[in-house]
Amino acid sequence: MPHGAPLILLLLLLLLLPWGSHCTTGAEGPSPCPIRREEPVERAGQTCQRSCRQDQDCSGQRQCLCDGSCGLSCVTPNRSCPWPVQVENAETHLTQVSHSFGALMEVTCHPGFSMSKGQRSELSRCQGDRKWSWTEPCEWDLSPSSFCRPPPEIDNGSRSGPPYRPGREVQYKCKRGYRLEGSATLRCQDNQEWSGPTPTCHPVFCPPPGDIAEGYLVAVKKAQYRAGELVYYLCKRNYLLDGTNRVTCQDNGTWSPQPFCRARCAVLAQRSRVLYQGRKLWVTEIPEGLVQHGENVTFYCRQQNQTQRQSCSYPTPERCLDGVLPLPACYEEPTWLQYMFFPKRVVSEIRPC
Ligand SMILES: *[C@@H]1O[C@H](CO)[C@@H](O)[C@H](O)[C@H]1NC(C)=O
Ligand SMILES: *[C@@H]1O[C@H](CO)[C@@H](O)[C@H](O)[C@H]1NC(C)=O
Ligand SMILES: *[C@@H]1O[C@H](CO)[C@@H](O)[C@H](O)[C@H]1NC(C)=O
Ligand SMILES: *[C@@H]1O[C@H](CO)[C@@H](O)[C@H](O)[C@H]1NC(C)=O
Ligand SMILES: *[C@@H]1O[C@H](CO)[C@@H](O)[C@H](O)[C@H]1NC(C)=O
Repeated sequence: MPHGAPLILLLLLLLLLPWGSHCTTGAEGPSPCPIRREEPVERAGQTCQRSCRQDQDCSGQRQCLCDGSCGLSCVTPNRSCPWPVQVENAETHLTQVSHSFGALMEVTCHPGFSMSKGQRSELSRCQGDRKWSWTEPCEWDLSPSSFCRPPPEIDNGSRSGPPYRPGREVQYKCKRGYRLEGSATLRCQDNQEWSGPTPTCHPVFCPPPGDIAEGYLVAVKKAQYRAGELVYYLCKRNYLLDGTNRVTCQDNGTWSPQPFCRARCAVLAQRSRVLYQGRKLWVTEIPEGLVQHGENVTFYCRQQNQTQRQSCSYPTPERCLDGVLPLPACYEEPTWLQYMFFPKRVVSEIRPC
């Protein structure tokens, strides 16, 4: 019996040894490289380099290395993959300094985003074709447990989109012609609840538009008008519209500025010529003796030269403003006699200064 125990131990060792040594050589030797399978590789967008079994099968600086699903391939080991890499809604970082063949990059989705199979991160390998094995964007994850539920939509308005993570704010807006009631901003709180009630949009109305002096309102008579509605104004005969004839009910419930109806002006000079619309005319030649609001009329005044005892005329413009066209202070109305018998001596007709 005392000799039996070591014998059994020895037998046990002998039995275990071949299995154990196989195990260690397996761990020390090259990790098995997948057999090349063209179809899935091409579907994934990877290009395989020339297949090989040892470095001698490759030319130049190429070495026979394992290139993922391409299997053993002739690759140039110091060829780099692009860096830095942008992956949508994700952060990327290299697990080592290098970004050449075989280098690994970790792609991690931003909070609230995940990859197509639901994973939050993925290791991406620099392949022999100088592409990263994984650059798929991260998509908005519809069911992250720590997030607020999408806040309600509102009628006649809109709100900003996800992610609805705690601390983030959504902005509500009403469309044109609607006014927001309540808080325009809601915050996703740490308890996954929104910070307040959803705001609402209400249509904006303007009161009936007012009348204007010497004009007419052209509009359908209503108790109230919607934002964006238009009304029109016209002026009575002989009045000039000053401003725009279209008046709008604005988004804040007020009307845009109304126009004015401006009166024409009588030219009060009678026996002189004036400069009007670029022509020197007797006042009787101006139709109805009236000029439009905003128009200029230039009158002539006398300048007395003391030394020469001779006078000359100089122009003085005046402007018609809503029915009022003043005569310049220096203007003298010629007498009827002057006008009839000495028309050449009327100030507007003498030598200009
Ligand atoms: C790759 O390495 C070889 C030899 O080590 C060198 O001659 C070559 O310039 C390197 N190429 C790049 C792109 O770094
Ligand atoms: C505003 O919302 C209400 C309720 O959904 C709807 O009936 C109405 O047509 C909307 N108004 C406009 C101008 O779209
Ligand atoms: C309404 O809006 C118009 C145009 O934006 C602005 O000129 C006007 O001052 C506003 N009126 C009021 C009372 O807010
Ligand atoms: C009319 O006269 C005023 C100055 O009195 C001048 O500013 C304006 O430009 C003139 N208008 C025209 C149409 O000549
Ligand atoms: C008056 O006439 C003289 C001679 O033509 C001239 O030198 C002078 O400047 C004139 N004076 C005025 C105020 O026009």
